[in-house]
Amino acid sequence: MAGSMFRTKSIERLMADGAATGEGSLKRTLGAGALVALGIGAIIGAGLFVRTANAIAERAGPSVVLAFLVAGIGCAFAGLCYAEFASMIPIAGSAYTYSYATMGELMAWIIGWDLVLEYAVGAATVAIAWSQYFNRVLGFVNLQIPWQWYHSPFQVMPDTGVNGVAAVHGMMNVPAVGILFLITLLLIRGTQQSAVINGIIVVLKVSIVLMVITLGWGFIDPANHTPLIPEPRMVTNHEGIQHAYGGIMGILGAAGVVFFAFIGFDAVSTAAQEAKNPKKDMPIGILGSLVVCTLLYVLFSWVLSGLGPVSFFQDPKLGGEASVAAAITTYMHGYGWLSNFVTVAILAGFSSVILVMLLGQSRVFYSMSRDGLVPKLFSETHPKFQTPYKSNWLFFVFTALFAAFIPDDIVGEMTSIGTLFAFILVCIGVWMMRVRRPDIPRGFTVPALPLVSTLGVVVCSAMIYGLGWTNWLRLIVWLAIGLVIYFSYGIKNSRLAKG
Ligand code: ALA
Repeated sequence: MAGSMFRTKSIERLMADGAATGEGSLKRTLGAGALVALGIGAIIGAGLFVRTANAIAERAGPSVVLAFLVAGIGCAFAGLCYAEFASMIPIAGSAYTYSYATMGELMAWIIGWDLVLEYAVGAATVAIAWSQYFNRVLGFVNLQIPWQWYHSPFQVMPDTGVNGVAAVHGMMNVPAVGILFLITLLLIRGTQQSAVINGIIVVLKVSIVLMVITLGWGFIDPANHTPLIPEPRMVTNHEGIQHAYGGIMGILGAAGVVFFAFIGFDAVSTAAQEAKNPKKDMPIGILGSLVVCTLLYVLFSWVLSGLGPVSFFQDPKLGGEASVAAAITTYMHGYGWLSNFVTVAILAGFSSVILVMLLGQSRVFYSMSRDGLVPKLFSETHPKFQTPYKSNWLFFVFTALFAAFIPDDIVGEMTSIGTLFAFILVCIGVWMMRVRRPDIPRGFTVPALPLVSTLGVVVCSAMIYGLGWTNWLRLIVWLAIGLVIYFSYGIKNSRLAKG
């Protein structure tokens, strides 16, 4: 039994499986520019428009700009490693597929299970962000969702429960469940985002980011940027969780939080088999979208943290929710139209991110199910639409539970830590594979390999460290549940085990 956990799926077999499911036979149509656009389409979302303000409020104040740099650098190292894997195993894959070929079944299971945090819990996080901006849109026509119906039971409306005012507790986040439901329906009908719609959404997202940067620049109050790095201290957040604020630990924690804003660039690596010239275009696609986003994020967070004081972003009734729109309304007089435009455009932007994440989730479980590691129903397809509809429904229920009942910072940080962990394993895997199977042709090779992998592991681990023990605990519990499932189900039902 012990040896079986380390059985690997040979590259040859991977490719054969890919061919059998029609993967690996896609047309090579994407050039470097299209790959960069694909990356940006999947990247800009709740990380920038909601998590940034949370990082300012709870972790780093204006030093959030340095946090974006740290997160961008960590992603660049991991991104190079992703690019080598993607060019070596060019079937529509993910970290799960790569690790099955390199580190064995147990590791592949751990990564596949861990990717649920990246994709499914990530989709829940974006859905919660969607609900905050959606409520603002309703405000245009003087409608409001009652507070308790777009917050989790772990949240209490601030300023209530004092002076005899009855406290309002959150009940469930209804709009977040609603958007997940709509997107699940789209997925079941087999909607893949078309290149045209993706193109429009990329243009929309980049333009609102650029507008906020250029128009907001003149409204920066230098007092909000001094000191750039706040004095280190411990703070307790609304949910009673204590963590570091300010100093180096504040920056590392904030980097872990805003790391969420970079998630999705690995989507570019999954398009390896559609790239015209993977050797040249994959690294340009991955690193290009990272460089563009890092630059935009640093400038954007500089403007956002300069518009209002930290206390503004700490107050859920002021800038703590739908923060970008709130900050524009409050501090950029005469730019109400920009706030409204951002609010509407970002709803479309969030929706496309949710679509990409839920699609990624069903693909990973589809592969795992075909490998026998999770039950068959995850790969059973709809008779008419040919989509894994049972899987889509189950993940709707799963993500809806998270979105409805857990606060956004908890799901957001769970997504970050899960993805960081997957990145670390990819950095290690690419190196192991170079040593073990140098013979396999690679379209792209990571330069200065042990160094880049090692730096990837170090920077991603530093962010995990910064996220603090409550997040470590959640990751450990999640992985422990996964191990119980693997040893009671996957190890026996694996297709490799059955020969
Ligand atoms: N990077 C994506 C976002 O920020 C997941 O929404």
